[in-house]
Amino acid sequence: MRARRPTPFTRAAASVLIGLSLTWASVPASATSGCDSIASIPITWNIDYSLDIQEVFNNRCSNCHVDHGGSPSGDLDLDPEFSYDNLVNGPSNEQPGRFLVVPGQPLDSVLFEKINCDVPNFGLRMPRGRAPLPLTEQALIFDWIMLGAPRLQTDFILANGFEPRP
Ligand code: HEC
Repeated sequence: MRARRPTPFTRAAASVLIGLSLTWASVPASATSGCDSIASIPITWNIDYSLDIQEVFNNRCSNCHVDHGGSPSGDLDLDPEFSYDNLVNGPSNEQPGRFLVVPGQPLDSVLFEKINCDVPNFGLRMPRGRAPLPLTEQALIFDWIMLGAPRLQTDFILANGFEPRP
């Protein structure tokens, strides 16, 4: 069968589609909505990654984000041996060009957006299909990232110029 020449309609539809995909591709990192305010939660200065942050993952995320011979959801393994290296300066699979945890920049970190906002830039809020994390746990993750996302313990001496809470 001979290929049909595009009619004005198909050409118009194609340009709308191209326009849409350009818009979609250029969605700014802040196109989120329904984000919780953690302003009321006091800052936690001393945070131990393996005790405090990993604990949140173990309790709330690990039945999906583990690798028990299968593949972890979202291709993100949050098992204790791997979570830190996967998260800190780790590329987002869903949002190319962005990172899961950007030390010192919680509002640029995909991890914080995914637990803080009903509508993240991509996909669903985490923990997926469940109640959002309590504000205290959201704030703990914010503070840990803000304080430089260290592998061991945060050090409050680094805390000058704390980014305002959202
Ligand atoms: C019921 C299963 C489930 C639970 C529980 C869950 N996740 Fe997810 N997660 C997914 C799936 C599926 C995706 C990919 C689709 C999406 O983003 O909605 C994902 C994606 C993600 C991403 C994006 C990864 C990327 O490359 O950008 C992050 C970050 C994340 N989850 C963090 C968490 C955290 C933190 C918790 C616990 C507080 C959690 N998830 C709990 C299933 C789950």
